[in-house]
Amino acid sequence: MIVRSNFGKTTGGEAVALYTLSNSKGAVAKITTYGAIVTELHVPGRDGKKGDVVLGFSTLDGYLKGHPYFGCIAGRVANRIARGAFTLDGKSYNLAINNSPNHLHGGLKGFDKKVWKAVQLRRAGGPALQLSLVSPDGDEGYPGALSVKVVYQLTDENTLRVEYTATTTKPTVVNLTNHSYFNLAGKGTVLGHELTLNCAKYTPVDETSIPTGELASVAGTDFDFQKAHKIGERSEKIGAAPNEGYDHNYVVDGGGKPGKLVKCASVYEPGSGRVLEIFTDQPGVQLYTGNFLDGSVVGKGGWKYIKHSALCLETQHFPDSINQKGFPTTVLRPGQVYKTVTEHRFSVRK
Ligand code: GLA
Repeated sequence: MIVRSNFGKTTGGEAVALYTLSNSKGAVAKITTYGAIVTELHVPGRDGKKGDVVLGFSTLDGYLKGHPYFGCIAGRVANRIARGAFTLDGKSYNLAINNSPNHLHGGLKGFDKKVWKAVQLRRAGGPALQLSLVSPDGDEGYPGALSVKVVYQLTDENTLRVEYTATTTKPTVVNLTNHSYFNLAGKGTVLGHELTLNCAKYTPVDETSIPTGELASVAGTDFDFQKAHKIGERSEKIGAAPNEGYDHNYVVDGGGKPGKLVKCASVYEPGSGRVLEIFTDQPGVQLYTGNFLDGSVVGKGGWKYIKHSALCLETQHFPDSINQKGFPTTVLRPGQVYKTVTEHRFSVRK
């Protein structure tokens, strides 16, 4: 079932809607046309009680005031492009430097700040909502008009499935992801969440979070999550104060084959028993442990989002791919279809 309600207006006067998707098990996903943001996601714990497992706001105003990409679709290119510069087919492009000295998550007005068009789809297996937009030629400095469709389906198996497609009128770059901040307890921090990553390698970065180009083995390092580790076990050894924690792209074992979903991550929260498994056909997944949350943003129910209140597992192409010869390509050309799927499968461990 899907119920539509009004969610207010942007500062520019555009009407924004909120869609509530409920599946046959009573799980609920709320999705707004502003930024294609998942604002709430209620799934059962071990005791059968539903809890909201994502950070966000209950009003549009919260999102309009500015926030660190809660629940949105990040694009046209999620993650960083070094110095906001790249060359494609011999032409140079310069994008906004909104994460000095680099470009981050599509620029000043990325897909997270656009109002998407919504269509409710008739589909078996659970409610599905299609969101679409056309990013015009030259939008945020990117070449080509890009037509993007994202379908969110909340399946009857308590999976939030996200399907992305895009086409372009000129050669361009594309890298889309969902930027949900998960906290499977619905409170506190994620330091006690147990994470497993099916990733033997990661992409080490320089001091500005741009990959060096190397695919390094995680073996024997604090980046190794091939067996489950609590987030808090080693996170304070990574990065620099006051924003310690993981903010790194991992190379998904067997990933990057379009249409072939592989398990890249699984998260277990011992208190509630909730489990989140992420399946994707993307080559990478960015693990971000909410290192920049500092208590200044207050979300749903008055929850002050402090450091490590949540973790993001952003399935994606590797950061700065357009400038890295050895990374899988993010170039999309006219006539090609960008197509990718990620599933967030929720369950409980007894
Ligand atoms: C991504 C980036 C982080 C940060 C968050 C949002 O995960 O890699 O550095 O920008 O988005 O704050």
